[in-house]
Amino acid sequence: MKHLLSLEKLSRADMEAVLQSTAVFKHERGRHTRQPLAGQHWALIFTKSSTRTRVSFEVGIRELGGVPTFLSANEIQLGRGEPIKDTARVLGRMIHGAVIRTFAQADVEQFAELAKVPTINALTDDEHPCQILTDIFTVQERLGPIQGKVVTFVGDGACNVPASWVFAAATLGFELRIAAPPQFQPTDALLSRAGSCHAFDSGAGRDKVRHFNFTGGGKVLCLENLEAAAKDADVLYTDVWVSMGKEAEAAERIKILSGYQINAALLQHAKPGALVMHCLPAYRGKEIDDETFEAHADTIFTQAENRLHTQKAILNWLVG
Ligand code: CP
Ligand code: NVA
Repeated sequence: MKHLLSLEKLSRADMEAVLQSTAVFKHERGRHTRQPLAGQHWALIFTKSSTRTRVSFEVGIRELGGVPTFLSANEIQLGRGEPIKDTARVLGRMIHGAVIRTFAQADVEQFAELAKVPTINALTDDEHPCQILTDIFTVQERLGPIQGKVVTFVGDGACNVPASWVFAAATLGFELRIAAPPQFQPTDALLSRAGSCHAFDSGAGRDKVRHFNFTGGGKVLCLENLEAAAKDADVLYTDVWVSMGKEAEAAERIKILSGYQINAALLQHAKPGALVMHCLPAYRGKEIDDETFEAHADTIFTQAENRLHTQKAILNWLVG
């Protein structure tokens, strides 16, 4: 049985299969006759807020012939303390698949193991695999193959979104730069999980760069100097400074991360015509300024739309 719990263990062939079929689902929307989820009920179990992920999965499941049931954790017994292991064993006897958004990665993994139905990670504290597969599709739709491209992530480099980008870069073989203050850079432990690599440091102080050259051709550079990170980049990408669940740290995060903003001055360092991307929701004046956001709104909202097409490809791959 297949699950999509993380990009860490997803093979290059599987990533490429999903990306290719995303193009077909997008092209054929409204005309395709395939109903791979016909007769199936899928549960969407969400402990955190969502606009894009919830709606794109509800629409996508229906377009593939299935029926989605949205379960906010607060409205089911899970929110009153029923353990995930019991929730999984109950729902697994009734539903054909699950899409879960929650805090602990271990909860999604335990659900998949015990429910014994295809399970999708719709965001945990550790990863956001559906988002990053979508983002790669969007980059390729606009710029061609991601191999040879430089993607620069700016902001909280230690959250779920950049973690999934790290696994994707190591597997697909492109260059990912993470520009973040030292407290918000990905750990060596995370990088070592991404695959075998040659790791070394260069520079010092604000110019220090942690390099991770993966055997598959991917490169990850972690650095504090955001202008250096943006230099000749094909894509500048950002995410919120305060992820869901980190609200208590908001004031400190905003203080430390201020400056790690995508704006016109930073964009000047990137390649002419570079894409500006944001997984959304966006906080203007924090991780991106309003002018840059609006100038790149077409890319950003196409990226949001592509969640639907990519997740249909993921669902199709899981049940295929
Ligand atoms: N990008 C994303 O996952 O958006 P939602 O939180 O609205 O689902
Ligand atoms: N890092 C963000 C992503 C939101 C889609 C969060 O976890 O809140």
